[in-house]
Amino acid sequence: MRKQIAAANWKMNLSHHEADSLLDQLLATEYHLSSNQAVIFAVPAIYIPLAVQKLNGKPNIFIAAQNCHQKANGAYTGEIAASMFASVGVHHIILGHSERREYFAESDSELAEKTEAVLAIGSTPIFCCGEPLSIREAGTQNSFVEAQLKNALFQISADQIVKVVIAYEPIWAIGTGKTATSEQAQEIHAYIRSVFAAHYGQNIADQISILYGGSVKASNSKEIFSQPDVDGGLVGGASLIVTEFAAIINALKS
Ligand code: 13P
Repeated sequence: MRKQIAAANWKMNLSHHEADSLLDQLLATEYHLSSNQAVIFAVPAIYIPLAVQKLNGKPNIFIAAQNCHQKANGAYTGEIAASMFASVGVHHIILGHSERREYFAESDSELAEKTEAVLAIGSTPIFCCGEPLSIREAGTQNSFVEAQLKNALFQISADQIVKVVIAYEPIWAIGTGKTATSEQAQEIHAYIRSVFAAHYGQNIADQISILYGGSVKASNSKEIFSQPDVDGGLVGGASLIVTEFAAIINALKS
C-alpha cells in the first residue's frame, strides 16, 4: 500500500521556544503510526537542529526542509543545498509550494532542476501543485495541474518518480478556511494519478503518494483522507496546534 503521510508545514512561524514546546507536546500526545504511515515536520531551516535532536530515531517520523537551492554548492548567498540538509539528517524537501511560486517567482523549469537535485542525492521531494481560484472557477484545474506536473517532473525516470511525494494544494483553499470537498479532492487526485499512469504506467502511478493540502483540520481530515486517491495531507495552520495535528495524524488511513 502507498505511504500515508501527515506532513506539517510550519511555514515562517513560531519562535525557537514555541517550536521546542510544540514538538515536546506532540511527542507526549497519543498517536499511532503503522509501518506504512509517516509524519513529516517541515520546519523553518533554522529549527532543523532542534527538530533533529527531538525527533531523530523516532520510527516513521521525519523532518523536511521547506525549500532548497537547485545547485550542489557555490556562490548563492543565503541559499541551502539539498545535500546540506541531508548532511544534518533531513531527507525530505518541499518543492514548489504555491507561496514560493508566487512570492519568489519559482518557475516550472527551476522546479524541474530542484526536483532532480533532491533525487540525485537520494532525498525525497514533496512536490506541490495546485490551481488559483480563477482557474477553478473556469473549470480548467485539471489541465492547469497537469501542465505543472508535466513541465517539472516528466523528465524524471520511472524508478525515480516513485520516490516523489505529490502535494495537491488548491491555492483558494490555503489559509482561507475553505477546504475542497472530499469529492473535489478525490476527483483531482484521481486525475493526477491518471496523468502519471499515462506517462509512467499504472503500476508506477499506484505507488505515488498524493497528499491534499488547504485548510486541513482535525474536523475534516478523516473524511478527506478516506478518499481512495488521497494519501494524507500537507497541513499549514492546523499543524501549529497540538490537538489538531495529533487528530490529523490519527485520521490517516492505516
Ligand atoms: P493551511 O493548512 O494553513 O491552509 O496551509 C496549507 C498549506 O499551504 C500547507 O503547505
